[in-house]
Amino acid sequence: MTSQESAPNLTVQAEEPLEGLLLEDKSKFKTCSQIGFYRRQKLLHPDQSPYLAQLDTLKMENGIATLNILHQRTKVPLQLQVIAVEGNIVRLKIKELSPLKPRYEVPDVLVKEPTTGRFNILLQETETVVLEHPSGTSKVHIHSQPFSIMVTQEDEALFGINSQGFLYFEHLRLPPEKREPAETDTKVQSDKSEQDVFGLWKEKFGDFVDVKAHGPSSVGLDFTLYGFENVYGLPEHADIHCLKDTGENEAYRLYNLDVFGYRVFDKMGTYGSVPLLLAHKPSYTCGIFWLNASETLVEINSKAALQSQLQSNSPDIRKQKAVPKMDIRWMSESGIVDVFLLLGPMPQNVFNQYAQLTGTQILPPLFSLGYHQCRWNYEDEADVEAVDSGFDEHNIPYDVIWLDIEHTDGKRYFTWDPDRFPGPVKMQKKLREKRRKLVVISDPHIKVDPNYTLYAEAKERGYFVKDREIQNFEGSCWPGVSSYIDFTNPAAREWYSSQFSLEKYKNATDILFVWNDMNEPSVFDAPEMTMPKDAVHHQGWEHRDLHNLYGFYQMLYSQQMSTSDGLIQRSGGKERPFVLTRSFFAGSQRYGAVWTGDNKAEWEYLKISVPMLLSLSVTGIAFCGADVGGFVGDPDPELLVRWYQAGSFQPFFRGHAMQGTKRREPWLFGEENTLLIRKAIKERYTLLPYWYLLFYRAYRKAELVMRPLWVEFSKYQDAFALESQYMLGNALLVAPVLDSGVKSIDVLFPGAGEYWYDFRTYMLVKGPHRQKMAVTLEEIPVFQRGGSIIPMRTAVGKSTAWMGSSPYELHVALDRKGLAVGELYVDDGYSLQYLHEHMYSHRRFTFSRNVLSSSSADKEGRYAVDCILEKVYIIGLKKSPSKVTAHCSGGKKPMEFTYNNQLCLLSLENLSLQVCADWEIHIV
Ligand code: NOJ
Repeated sequence: MTSQESAPNLTVQAEEPLEGLLLEDKSKFKTCSQIGFYRRQKLLHPDQSPYLAQLDTLKMENGIATLNILHQRTKVPLQLQVIAVEGNIVRLKIKELSPLKPRYEVPDVLVKEPTTGRFNILLQETETVVLEHPSGTSKVHIHSQPFSIMVTQEDEALFGINSQGFLYFEHLRLPPEKREPAETDTKVQSDKSEQDVFGLWKEKFGDFVDVKAHGPSSVGLDFTLYGFENVYGLPEHADIHCLKDTGENEAYRLYNLDVFGYRVFDKMGTYGSVPLLLAHKPSYTCGIFWLNASETLVEINSKAALQSQLQSNSPDIRKQKAVPKMDIRWMSESGIVDVFLLLGPMPQNVFNQYAQLTGTQILPPLFSLGYHQCRWNYEDEADVEAVDSGFDEHNIPYDVIWLDIEHTDGKRYFTWDPDRFPGPVKMQKKLREKRRKLVVISDPHIKVDPNYTLYAEAKERGYFVKDREIQNFEGSCWPGVSSYIDFTNPAAREWYSSQFSLEKYKNATDILFVWNDMNEPSVFDAPEMTMPKDAVHHQGWEHRDLHNLYGFYQMLYSQQMSTSDGLIQRSGGKERPFVLTRSFFAGSQRYGAVWTGDNKAEWEYLKISVPMLLSLSVTGIAFCGADVGGFVGDPDPELLVRWYQAGSFQPFFRGHAMQGTKRREPWLFGEENTLLIRKAIKERYTLLPYWYLLFYRAYRKAELVMRPLWVEFSKYQDAFALESQYMLGNALLVAPVLDSGVKSIDVLFPGAGEYWYDFRTYMLVKGPHRQKMAVTLEEIPVFQRGGSIIPMRTAVGKSTAWMGSSPYELHVALDRKGLAVGELYVDDGYSLQYLHEHMYSHRRFTFSRNVLSSSSADKEGRYAVDCILEKVYIIGLKKSPSKVTAHCSGGKKPMEFTYNNQLCLLSLENLSLQVCADWEIHIV
């Protein structure tokens, strides 16, 4: 194979766009202007795509359309595949027709090879081919010159692809010195001379040099979203939820990095990446899932398009009107173009489509939905015991105490510091007696120490990532010089997984769970504090190809195995794992929870936690949270209290603090603040039945636990950019207090005809309405939506395990028609029997015509629950009943009740119905 010339138009416009871009940035992290492939791709001029689709090469094989597209100057042919994926998804793949060597195609992220349908060719002409998706509503129009694609839905333009001409594909080529003399033409010379500026074969960042053994290999493509003004997703950035126009020379960066104390309102990459962007308008929701694990930049530009541009058959200029559009340009450093267009049309359809590809949130063990107490570090066993007892003394429930890196013997993971933790088994025994758990940290860097068994074994088996000289890569992290496990190697994952077995992991017991940190991976003495891109993985792939997958692989389980699977294996395949990860990729939701890393104990970090978690939620990562209190620095008591109140309504609820910060266990801020924090944590525990149901629905139906308002009120434009409040499931509206010293906050009550009841006082507010709500330090505003039924516990215990048999209560909030529905999901909370043996009970509650009834929501469930429904509150009942009777298998019984006229609240407080049995309560 002969080598081809360099990047399109490289020599021609080298000068102008680079001006001002070459300023040395002294910071540790790159800006866009310091990224070679971004600079190269930015040399493209819009609307001048050099690509031509050779429509006469169109082949249909098994319903998949394949054709060639040709760069008209370099003549390098690319292959385009257009694939109709079941469930209204279109997949586009663009790769080199005959590459010099294979290019990286992301493995293991998709749950399976997607089921494809057959495209129907509707039109085949020299200039245009039209394919009809088997769903019948969407069509793919492929235009030949220049190459572009238009995807229509119900014959309306939805996506334009390469409509701006930014398809970019750096074909693989031989290095200049290996080319034939005849090829040493001016183009090759330009490869050499411009290499420093554009980083074709070598790229410098400060003192670091990235040697590109395979030369430039970046890819890019643009998408135009017609009629859209709001886009979301692309975590993880410390930025607003409704993504901003990036301008022309900035981009959202997806590159997993250890960014200690990251800046807020920033587009630079933080710890994890999900290359999924969602677009929403009142009539439609869709998504773009760009399956590429190399460094990726995404530009977002919003402009108006003229209507006539969208309808090529409408020449009437008078009919032209401006409609909004968003231009999304994706650029990745290597790999291929593999993109899924999720065609909606409703928000939940897009979540289903994405879940069909990458899976849903793993159902967590119940304990992990309780409160977690972490600190870097709990110093020793006495400290652990004192903190644990502190919770009991102050009557605050909690489930898990966490040990950070100092618990190990010299930062050798899977070991214990012999002085600080001489009796880990005894310590765990005490925690077990309190029915609590322990989480310990396990990072991917392994101390270079021949006497450390883990290191010696991994070295011997060849399980470390290699440097570009194919020696074990060594970099600095907490233990000093370290090597990094190559989790992309299935054998290394299996071996790592086996380290969690109780035989191997000395002094671990089955109450010990795992925290995967520093897995971007963090390398202190490397470019941008992460692994050099020219490091080499299993099967010779460069780290650049798969960087964003490293953390995903550390926690991955199922056939492939790693941390999460290690925990399942440990229990003989019976118990659910719990793993928290800092780094993640699309699909990480299948293995555990994610937190937002090293935030600061400042108000703006509390505030940004909400949009950050919403962005994770809409991209499938339901089990997410932020360090309560802020990791870096010392929160003042007001901030800490507000953070507990906000955190108790966020999915993963963990207090954490950095080494050297003041101690901040919940009782250290005076009686008044202890009381407030206790109240917030206890409220979380009373609501656990609702949280558990939401997680069950997330796992089963890809529903969001924490929902931005636009998802729930998809036609209500006032809600589209709102991020100071959100829904928990479809029933609770949460408006955390995010500023210091405020006496009131603005709350938007969405939905025409919706009723909203204050969760604690039952006061009614009718939507749609915006209202200033008075707040005190006592609590944050939370409202229950009319039409919902929320299951709760009447009392809390020391931890979730103490609450197995505590009674339930139902909060029935009536809508304007006097109706309400809700559910309860119960299983043992820790095993996998719900999965394999239908050991669960899933109930449905309905309130209609003054009858509240309980029935089975899933006849297959066969878990026996011996728990009482003790209280029912019916909120919004217009008049006082004369009689209330309960009907159950034991017969008919009159019930005591009280009715509050002012609040329209009916309270039944001494019931003793079985919560998971069939029964009815009649109100006359
Ligand atoms: C960085 C993590 O983000 C932080 O949570 C942890 O405490 C430190 N590493 C030490 O392990």
